[in-house]
Amino acid sequence: MAKQKMVYVCDKCGYESPKWFGKCPVCGEWNTAKEFQLKDIDTESKSIRSGEMGVSRSQPCFVDVNQAYENLEDARIKTNISALDDILSSGIVKGQVILLGGEPGVGKSTLALQICASIVKDDKEKLVYYISGEESVSQIAIRAKRLGIRNPSILLSSETQIEEVLKGIDVQRAKLIVIDSIQTLSSVDIESPIGGVVQIRAVVEKVRVFSKKYGIPSLLIAHVTKEGAIAGPKLVEHVVDTVVYFEGERTTDYRILRVQKNRYGPSGEISVFQMTENGLESLSDDTLVNYSETPGNVLTSAYEGSRPINVQIQALVSRVKVASGRRISHGVDVRKIIIISAVLSRHLNIPLDFHDIYINVSGGINITDSGCELAIAGAILSSFLDVYVGNTFMVGEIGLDGSVRPTVNIGKRIENARKLPINSILIPSKAEYKSASRTRTEKSEKLERISNVRQLFNFMVDLKKGV
Ligand code: TYD
Ligand code: MG
Repeated sequence: MAKQKMVYVCDKCGYESPKWFGKCPVCGEWNTAKEFQLKDIDTESKSIRSGEMGVSRSQPCFVDVNQAYENLEDARIKTNISALDDILSSGIVKGQVILLGGEPGVGKSTLALQICASIVKDDKEKLVYYISGEESVSQIAIRAKRLGIRNPSILLSSETQIEEVLKGIDVQRAKLIVIDSIQTLSSVDIESPIGGVVQIRAVVEKVRVFSKKYGIPSLLIAHVTKEGAIAGPKLVEHVVDTVVYFEGERTTDYRILRVQKNRYGPSGEISVFQMTENGLESLSDDTLVNYSETPGNVLTSAYEGSRPINVQIQALVSRVKVASGRRISHGVDVRKIIIISAVLSRHLNIPLDFHDIYINVSGGINITDSGCELAIAGAILSSFLDVYVGNTFMVGEIGLDGSVRPTVNIGKRIENARKLPINSILIPSKAEYKSASRTRTEKSEKLERISNVRQLFNFMVDLKKGV
């Protein structure tokens, strides 16, 4: 007997309650409670999960690990888009549900269409389904033409009712389902506005159950704004297997794809694309570094996911008349900039309060790694003192006491940085790193160790003096 459970969900912020509410206690909106029937979804999902691993429903739900592993590896589908395969642990798994988020215009539909074309290119038997509630079939066709995609195995539809969409899918031949976007489809079971939290959840749940039942992967596109103002996609992140987001400024050609969550591989991985006239192209991440021979630029490495990425920190320190200089940052949490500039002001006794500080990370990438702090401090001092630091690579953390501290994987970062034409390296004194450059004749960069921000300052002053 199916369990019938009711919940009330705020259509604005997704707050859930077993009781009806007039005013949402979380976001404070009135009349946003939508009645939502949870139809035995838990029970259905459980049986589907066991079916996915090759267990018949009448048997107990156990499967040996070898069999489970083989099922998984057999089913990896390579997208043949190298920057994507790299971050998805070399392909998409049977039944995997991927959420692809990003700001409007960043390139989600382009990437989705390129994936479709790529995975059926050499497989005439299979079909991919591209469902677009956003655009008409002819609009998608214009994009396909622009990308040079011609393939009868890519089936397009602009149907917006999820039940109709799923009914039309040939489960024997389907290789991938793309829903563009989850905010534009709806379910007949739900009387709630399209694009609202309740509809989004219902649509995602229907596709997820379908994907798991038939082992067909699905790619769900979601619009998000910079501020994450649209709550819907965030609220379904926990039900999907993999969450990837496009980062980066739409004003540049670079697009960074970051895996926020992955049940089938490591998360945090990033890869770089470039939006060209012919769609998105995979790039090496070293292209994020743009060399500029002016003060305020320092090379460093951000440990994102399981590998280091070379980036350049750019700082502009500009004098103001009052002791309340602004701190503005793109790509680094502004609170980090406030702390680092306070440490520099206090321990070096320099008037950074009387300066605005602007920070930018090359390529529009967002970094959270504390190993970049030394480079941020270096970029600020380089701009403040008007010293060009050349191709100096800096990596380390900054303590509130003005100390320069070791960070993780310094050796791997330096090895990766050698892909760039660096000529000196600055690392914390206590970093466990043995310079390999002395034994390697082909590299002769200068390695310096420092233990506090005063020594960083002296390093800059020496450069200025030309020592
Ligand atoms: P799109 O994939 O429609 O973005 P989203 O689905 O995230 O809203 O891409 C939009 C932008 O990409 C648009 O400004 C045009 C540009 N573009 C190219 O530069 N080259 C191309 O080959 C394509 C298809 C789009
Ligand atoms: Mg789109």
